[in-house]
Amino acid sequence: MTQGFTPGLQDTVAAETALSHVDGAAGRLILRGRDLDALAGQPFEAMLALLWEGTAPQKTPQPMEAEALRSALGAARQEAFALMQPLLPAARALPPVPALRLMLSALPDTQDAAIRSVAATGTFTAAIARLAMGETPVAPDPARGHAEDMLAMLTGAAPEPAQVAALDRYLVTVADHGLNASTFAARVVASTRAGTVSSVVAALCALKGPLHGGAPGPVLDMLDGIGEAGNARPWLAAALDRGERLMGFGHRIYRVRDPRADVLKAGVQTLRGSGRIALAETVEAEALALLAERKPDRPLQTNVEFYTALLLEALGWPRDSFTCVFAAGRVAGWTAHVREEERTGRLIRPQSRYVGPAPAR
Ligand code: ACO
Repeated sequence: MTQGFTPGLQDTVAAETALSHVDGAAGRLILRGRDLDALAGQPFEAMLALLWEGTAPQKTPQPMEAEALRSALGAARQEAFALMQPLLPAARALPPVPALRLMLSALPDTQDAAIRSVAATGTFTAAIARLAMGETPVAPDPARGHAEDMLAMLTGAAPEPAQVAALDRYLVTVADHGLNASTFAARVVASTRAGTVSSVVAALCALKGPLHGGAPGPVLDMLDGIGEAGNARPWLAAALDRGERLMGFGHRIYRVRDPRADVLKAGVQTLRGSGRIALAETVEAEALALLAERKPDRPLQTNVEFYTALLLEALGWPRDSFTCVFAAGRVAGWTAHVREEERTGRLIRPQSRYVGPAPAR
């Protein structure tokens, strides 16, 4: 029997997960029983260990402790760096997300594809950012932590501890977030048993769109367009008059402020080169006031992408690579969901409601 249909599957529960819960009314993100705030100061490897705990395929030895993951990721970054070399000429001709898609597609779907995918996404992202800056990719150093090495591969120099802490904070903050569009895409593909790499590539394709992971670059375009605090209100009002959406605001689930926004804002404040934070605060306040006036029935608040844009800019990532950096964090959640789906799920095969013409008799 065909059940009811809700556009965008809004309010539809489409999976059970022990990984994360988005409490949209309270503005809380719970990851394996812990609030994001309690996890935000940890290295990315600790979040990966937390998400992967108990999800490894049976009979597959997987390092589960953060320290073991740190060295396994280091080795896998080196493999990824070697694997991507023949792909660099093609990648150079592509925008960042298609370049990342190309490189990830080349990963072998072996039993350790989850760790390869996580290591490779960070390695490829740094290389793609270097290409965008007209530079040659920098080789990884397996002795470094993942965030530290991503920054070293981006700049070619040893990063400052505050920069490493800020990137770890970002990668941890975006690592998992319930059944968002890209994670759902990963689970659909995993449910067909197509494998981890195929699931990760599908997830990246979903992440690319401006309504999901493609928003933070346009947040900076908005700040550039506004230029100075006094222009904020007229600029934002004109954008809304044109029917545009304000990037970095609104969310399907949160009806209050996205808790990730404050975690990332705290990260931005620790960085030198975050000179635009005063402008951003004004733009945020004006945008929230305008959205409350224009959309009184729809509580629209700041989402994760607003302060993501400032944090990644202050760390030196080129703005068109922001979605790739997002993928470098979210791949932790994608791979955990893939494992969970493979262990517990059934083929995902919903029904559609036919609204086309009836056949002629
Ligand atoms: N600016 C202006 N109006 C908005 C915004 C916004 N940022 N977000 C939603 N609205 C309005 C819509 O126009 C719509 O109004 P209407 O009913 O009068 O047409 C109403 O609010 C509801 O919008 P929906 O699209 O139904 O809400 P949904 O829950 O599907 O959208 C989304 C969520 C896609 C994130 C939306 O808020 C948006 O487009 N935001 C801007 C892009 C963005 O920041 N994306 C990153 C999201 S976070 C992430 O994915 C990691």
